[in-house]
Amino acid sequence: MSIAILDFGSQYSQLIARRLRELQVYCELFPWHTEQAIIEAIHPQGYILSGGPSSVYDENAPTLPEFVINSGLPILGICYGMQLLVHHLGGEVAASDAREYGFTTVTVIEDNALTTRGEHQVWMSHGDIVRQLPPGFSQTAASQNGIIAAMENATTKVFGLQFHPEVSHTSGGLQMLKYFTHGVCAVAATWTADKIIDDAIHAIQTQVGDKHVLAAVSGGVDSSVAAALVHRAVGPQLHALFVDNGLLRKNERQQVESALRNQLGTDIEIVDASERFLSALKSITDPEQKRHIIGETFIRVFEEYAQSIDHAEFLVQGTIYPDVVESSAPDRAQAQRIKSHHNVGGLPTDMQFGLVEPLRYLFKDEVRAVGEALGLPHDLVWRQPFPGPGLAVRCLGAINRERLDTLRDADHIFREELVQAKLLNQKEGTEGSAAQAFAVLLPVQSVGVMGDQRTYREVIALRAVSSDDFMTADWARLPHDLLARAATRIVNEVPGVNRVVYDITSKPPATIEWE
Ligand code: XMP
Repeated sequence: MSIAILDFGSQYSQLIARRLRELQVYCELFPWHTEQAIIEAIHPQGYILSGGPSSVYDENAPTLPEFVINSGLPILGICYGMQLLVHHLGGEVAASDAREYGFTTVTVIEDNALTTRGEHQVWMSHGDIVRQLPPGFSQTAASQNGIIAAMENATTKVFGLQFHPEVSHTSGGLQMLKYFTHGVCAVAATWTADKIIDDAIHAIQTQVGDKHVLAAVSGGVDSSVAAALVHRAVGPQLHALFVDNGLLRKNERQQVESALRNQLGTDIEIVDASERFLSALKSITDPEQKRHIIGETFIRVFEEYAQSIDHAEFLVQGTIYPDVVESSAPDRAQAQRIKSHHNVGGLPTDMQFGLVEPLRYLFKDEVRAVGEALGLPHDLVWRQPFPGPGLAVRCLGAINRERLDTLRDADHIFREELVQAKLLNQKEGTEGSAAQAFAVLLPVQSVGVMGDQRTYREVIALRAVSSDDFMTADWARLPHDLLARAATRIVNEVPGVNRVVYDITSKPPATIEWE
């Protein structure tokens, strides 16, 4: 039981899939030109056609695959998806004089399968409009500018919405998707954490058989949940490795070790490679070079470990669905690679392992739900992101043990204050709270005065952001007295620091990390 979403390149396509998963409906997102057999392999009971930046009249505009219409299954076209249906089924699409973008009020003319009569606030974003409906369709809603905002053919169960029900600004949008999937397509809400776990365990057992599997764990939610699932499936055939690269936060190694050892129920090999990483990074200040060296060193450490495990044929990867979708998105410029990301567990490309990727079809919130259902500790499941290169990209300038200790202590104080104020890692965006917060050690020294002494010491920048997806972020409006407390404590308790500043740029234009 599933829904197939055809992606015509809208920035919201992924969001449609996330919303359906929230409704516990299994769905997959396919580039619009995907072969029929691949799509039908998930046995869809309905199709959703996403929006997209094209006009149906553009040369090489994406088209509606014939087999979708011929399937006789219910179809919901959103924005460009609706225009495609109209164009294909004999109606007329036209360029619009009034482009609508943003909030619009639409009036639903009468109760229908997706929504109820009355005024609804919706999120619009379109150039073209539907001028004439195809035969057999009726208009179900009009926008305040008088354009056709929704249509349906109740007999063939084909629907069109000119606005975006998947965007949270559309009031009742989730309800519309629910009526379409649960109601019109009759897909039951069976996609739950327990079902995901059962399916994953079965798939892992089938794939792995009696072979051995390696997993690099970082303490991050994805690698931990992936390893926990594999452990559930094949128990002692799993070999987990945690690499201490000397770039971890205060007490992190001990915390990760005890959390994973208890919860995974498996032994974790801890490799202390801190000396090796730190000497490779000595005198390196260029951010990209740092990332490169860390990635390389990790691969070498991992290879050495792998050779010590006989018969290991598989490697666990914590790849999640957004990574998969991004790499196959149609007609959308590949997200520009601003920084080269080396996740811990990043793949040695020349190694001959089969990949076990139990999270490949899951969104982050589903990974968290699975983590909780598997009994992983709350702190681990809701842990804020931590970059693979660790403190190396927060210790600007020279990297050495002394400066790393300074950074670690300041970071610890800042996060301790946030945790005490219950302002870190809240499930929902609590007002004034931070989804991610950390300290950065700057590559400059500044003048200060402590007692009667003039000082010339290190500067700490504090960074805290609110964000859902970490692709965009706003600086967190933390209470001033909390910032004051953190600054006073850092200057008093951390030797070598005489100044603390707070970063008040959002992303974009800045990034979350400083390097
Ligand atoms: P930026 O700095 O690009 O960061 O705004 C976005 C999010 O990604 C995290 N980040 C990384 N994660 N390896 C990772 O696994 C990396 O190299 C890396 N660099 C940044 C960052 O902490 C933020 O949450």
